[in-house]
Amino acid sequence: MKKDLILIGGGGHCKSCIDVIEKQGEFRIIGIVDKKEKNETIFGYKIIGIDDDLPSLVKTVKNFIITIGHIKTASTRKRIFIKLKELKAELPHIISPLAYVSRHASIGEGSIILHHALINAGASIGCNCIINSKALIEHDAKVGDHCHISTSAVVNGEAIIEAGCFLGSNATIRETKKICKETIIGAGAVIVKNIVESGVYFGNPAKRMRFE
Ligand SMILES: CC(C)(COP(=O)(O)OP(=O)(O)OC[C@H]1O[C@@H](n2cnc3c(N)ncnc32)[C@H](O)[C@@H]1OP(=O)(O)O)[C@@H](O)C(=O)NCCC(=O)NCCS
Repeated sequence: MKKDLILIGGGGHCKSCIDVIEKQGEFRIIGIVDKKEKNETIFGYKIIGIDDDLPSLVKTVKNFIITIGHIKTASTRKRIFIKLKELKAELPHIISPLAYVSRHASIGEGSIILHHALINAGASIGCNCIINSKALIEHDAKVGDHCHISTSAVVNGEAIIEAGCFLGSNATIRETKKICKETIIGAGAVIVKNIVESGVYFGNPAKRMRFE
């Protein structure tokens, strides 16, 4: 029998998540928490409340997944994750059946692995992460909590992405390099050195944005 699941966040990223959840088939989507008008629907799933309703919703449904997008800052996703943990909700990780996750890799709670992502042997993904469509996390790479690795980004072997980072589409992180927490890496950036100061970086080789 399918397990009941509530989604939090009804924007564009939510649509991609719905597709993964439907294709995966383990969960029945009960509804979506969002500021939008109650009873509005997204692909047929109703908006059932706002953040303030979470304490009552956890009494009826156990499983939640955060489907709010993350560009630039993870703060909203992080705040809701902490709130759900306090409320003792369960945050399963969800893996698209079209993704490949090595049996020697680990995925933290509340993380979602979208279609055609590849997570190779020895890699680890923290909690509440988005590993977006076609992203590649190579062997032994580590992605910290609350990160978004966007579409087609490449995190090469043994690289370390600390908590709260955003990697734009097609960004490439050279093997073994480390990105410090809460860093924003622009689309298409190529990181060839460790990033030791949080900020916004883009280009090839990536440089820090002067006016953030
Ligand atoms: C790096 C980024 C976060 C900066 O966003 P921002 O602060 O809003 O910056 P702006 O878009 O105003 O751009 C500022 C300048 O940097 C340049 N720039 C921005 N992002 C760039 C990038 N990734 N590569 C090269 N140049 C870039 C812009 O052309 C602009 O240059 P200008 O001042 O000469 O006109 C953003 O551009 C980006 O790359 N976002 C990722 C998008 C993405 O991958 N989404 C995936 C969702 S799954």
